[in-house]
Amino acid sequence: MSTSKQEVIDPLSSADPVTPPRTGAAARPDKTPPRALRRMLALDDFEEAARRYIPRPIFGYVSGGAETNASLRGNRAAFDALAFVPRALVNVRGRTQQTTLFGRTYDAPFGIAPMGGTAMAAYQGDLVLARAAAEANIPMILSGASLTPLERIAEVGRTAWFQAYLPGEPGPITALVERVARAGYDTLCLTVDVPVMANRENNVRSGFHTPLRPSLRLAWDGITRPRWLLGMFARTLLLHGMPHFENMGPRVPLLSLTEERQRGLRDQLSWSHVELMRRLWKGRLVLKGILDQEDARIARESGADGIIVSNHGGRQLDGAVAPLRVLPGIVSEAGGMTVMMDSGIRRGTDVLKALALGAHFVFVGRPFLYAAAIAGEAGVRHAIKLLRDEIDRDMALLGITTLAEMRRERLMDARSFS
Ligand code: GLV
Repeated sequence: MSTSKQEVIDPLSSADPVTPPRTGAAARPDKTPPRALRRMLALDDFEEAARRYIPRPIFGYVSGGAETNASLRGNRAAFDALAFVPRALVNVRGRTQQTTLFGRTYDAPFGIAPMGGTAMAAYQGDLVLARAAAEANIPMILSGASLTPLERIAEVGRTAWFQAYLPGEPGPITALVERVARAGYDTLCLTVDVPVMANRENNVRSGFHTPLRPSLRLAWDGITRPRWLLGMFARTLLLHGMPHFENMGPRVPLLSLTEERQRGLRDQLSWSHVELMRRLWKGRLVLKGILDQEDARIARESGADGIIVSNHGGRQLDGAVAPLRVLPGIVSEAGGMTVMMDSGIRRGTDVLKALALGAHFVFVGRPFLYAAAIAGEAGVRHAIKLLRDEIDRDMALLGITTLAEMRRERLMDARSFS
C-alpha cells in the first residue's frame, strides 16, 4: 500500500525519509540527546514542550480525556495511592528488565500504546514510533485511527502490532483481519471500549474535529505554531501529499470541509465478533479496554491470547475506574491469558507498581507522541531511555534483579501503617 509519494526523499533531510525536521539538534545522526532533549528529564517534561509545538486543537485532542477528566486524574491517583517496601543489602548487580511476551523477549517491560493522532502532531509520526520501538526492541501498537497505511508500518516496525477499531459487522471484520495478516503482523489488538464516540468536550472547546475542518480559526491555530506548520504540516503536504485515515473504513483526508469518517455499527460489536476474529486470525489476539473481571474470564474463554486492562487513557467513559485498581481481580481470572495494562503510566515506579499487581507488561502513550512531535526519532529514543533508566534504578533501589520478583509484598497502601 505504500504510495510512490511516500518514497520521495526529502531534500532537506538525510537519506532517511522519516528523520524529523532539521530544526535544532533533532536531526543529528549520532545518538547523544540533542540539546533540546537534555532538559527532558522525565516523560512528563515532553508535554509542555509539545504544547508549545503542536497546534491547540491537536494538542487538546491528544492531551485531553472525556467530560470532566475524572478518569485521567484517577489514573494518576491510583499510582500515588501505593508505596514501595524495598529490601536492603541485595546484590542487584546482575539486574535485567528483559521481559518475554508472547514468546518474544523485549528489552523493557513497556511498549508504545496506540495513538491515532501521532502523525497529525509529529512529522511521519507513526513511522517514527515504529522505528524507534524496533530499535529499542520494545513493541509499538499502530492505531487503527492512524494516518499511515498499516502495510508501511509493517515494513519498518519489526516490533509493531496493529490495533483495530471495528464495527460489529462480519464483512469489515473479515476484510481487516485479512489485510492485517497479509501485511505480516503477528499480533492484532481489538479495542473494546468504543461502542460509541466518547463525549470529548475538550475537542469542541479546542476546535478539534476529524477530519480537521478548514476555517480561519484553524488557520490561526496553525500560524501560531510555525514550527509545526512548516516542519510538520507543509513538509508533509509537500513530500507526501495530504494524509488520509488509512486503516479504518474508507480513506478520508485529514483536512476536509465536508467528509466524515465512517465508523460503522460499532455499538453492535459483541463477543460473537471476537469469536469470529478468533476463527479468522491465526496470530495473537489481544483485547484492549477490559476493566471487569467477568469480561476477563469471557475473553479467556473466547480464545484471546491477552488483554490490555485500560480505560483508554481516560478518554472514553469519564469516571471509569483506574486500571491499576482492578488489575489484581482481573489477574485472578486470567488463567493462562497474558494481562497487560495501560493508562496513566509516566514513571518507572508506575511500571513497577503495575507489575507488582500482576500486569505482565504495560503500554505508555501520550509522552511518546509528544517526544516524536518535538524531536522525531531522537526524541522517542530519549523518552524510551528515560523510562528504561528509571526502571533499572528503581529495581536496584527495591532490591530486585528480575521483574518476576516485583510482587505484591513490595507494595503497601501509601496511607496505612504496617
Ligand atoms: C483514539 O483512540 C482516541 O482515543 O482518540
